[in-house]
Amino acid sequence: MKIFRIAVLPGDGIGPEVLDQAVRVLERVQECDASVRMEPTRLPWGSNYYFEHGKLVPENFLETLASFDAILLGAIGDPQRIADHISLRPLVQIRQRFDQYACVRPARLVTGVRSLLARPQEIDMIVLRENSEGEYLPCGGRVKQGEPDEVAIQSAVHTRRGIERILRFGFELARGRRRRLTMITKSNALSFAFVLWDEVLEQIRSDYHDVSADRQHADAAAMNFVRRPEEFDVVVASNLFGDILSDLGGAIVGGLGLLPSANLNPERKYPSMFEPVHGSAPDIAGRGIANPVAAVLSVAMMLEWLGMKSAAETIRGAVDTVLASGAGTPDLGGNLSTRQMADRIIENIR
Ligand code: NAI
Ligand code: MG
Repeated sequence: MKIFRIAVLPGDGIGPEVLDQAVRVLERVQECDASVRMEPTRLPWGSNYYFEHGKLVPENFLETLASFDAILLGAIGDPQRIADHISLRPLVQIRQRFDQYACVRPARLVTGVRSLLARPQEIDMIVLRENSEGEYLPCGGRVKQGEPDEVAIQSAVHTRRGIERILRFGFELARGRRRRLTMITKSNALSFAFVLWDEVLEQIRSDYHDVSADRQHADAAAMNFVRRPEEFDVVVASNLFGDILSDLGGAIVGGLGLLPSANLNPERKYPSMFEPVHGSAPDIAGRGIANPVAAVLSVAMMLEWLGMKSAAETIRGAVDTVLASGAGTPDLGGNLSTRQMADRIIENIR
C-alpha cells in the first residue's frame, strides 16, 4: 500500500497551534482506517527560521517540497517583525511553481454554528479562486519613491488559457454538486481583462449543457452573499475577487476559524497544498484558543484529494457532530481550548 509523504509547514502564530491538532486528528484517522497511510515530515520554516538563518526558507525549498505527495500548511505571517509582502512570498512561490491554479474554498453553514446573518438559509457554496495569475502576479513597479509625484503601477495579467482552465475546473466541480456556476467579474468597468473572462465563458458553456452558468459583478456578488447566499453553488472568481469573497463566505458560515482550503494542481504533476483560509492571527496567538477546525477540515480535503474519500467523510462527520453539540472555541462563543476542541473531534472518530 502506498504511503503518502506529507510536508507539514506549521509556520507562524496560530499556524503551529492548529496544525499540531490537525496532525493528531490525522493520526487518529490512521489508527481507525487501515487504508490511510501517511508519513508527515515537519519543516520548521517561517519567521523564527528567518531570525536564525536570515531567510524564511532554505535556498532549495521548492525542490524539497516537490518530492512530497502533498503539503499541509498552518499559516505564515509575523507582521510585528517582518513585512507581510516579504513573509508571504514563499507561499506565493509555492502556488506559482507548483501551478496550483485552482484554489478551492468551501463554505457551508452547519447545525450548531451561528451565522452573522440575521436569517440565514441553507448555505453550501464553494468559492473557486484562480490562484496563479490575475491581480496577484508580481507585475509592476514604483518610480520616484517617497517623492510627492511618486507613481506605483500594479498590472493584472489574465490569460485565455488561465481563464479557460479555471472555468472548466469550476464546471466539473459543479457537476458533482448542484450544477450551478456563477462567474464573478467586473466587466462593466475593467473592460479588457473581464470582457475576456465573459468571452471565454460564452465559448465553453456549451460543453456543459447540464450546468447552469451565470455572471455577476463583484460588487453585486458581495451584496448577494449577504442577501441570498443560498443561491450560490460554485462561485468562480479571479485571484483578487476570490480572495475577498471567500473571506465573506467564511463570515456568513461562522467565521474564519472554520474554513479550509485546497490549492490544487489539477494535473497532479506537482504536489497540492492544503491550508486554513485564515492567517496567523497574532491577536490570539500563544493563548491556545485558536479554532483548529479549519486546519482539521484542510486535512480532510487533503485525504479526499489523495483518494481517501471515506476517511475525509469520517473527519467531516466528526466535526459536524462536535459543532452540532454546541461545543466550540471562543470564536464560536464557546470556552474550549484548541486542544480540547481537537479532543472532541478525535473522540468522534471511530
Ligand atoms: P487572520 O486570518 O490571521 O485573522 C483575522 C481575524 O480572525 C483575527 O481576529 C483572528 O483572531 C481571527 N481568526 C483567524 N483564524 C482564527 C482561528 N483559527 N480561530 C479563531 N480566530 C481566528 O488575518 P490577519 O489578522 O489579517 O493576518 C494576520 C497575519 O496572517 C498577517 O501576517 C497576514 O499576512 C497573514 N496571513 C497569512 C495567510 C496564509 O498563511 N495563508 C492568509 C491570511 C493572512
Ligand atoms: Mg485572504
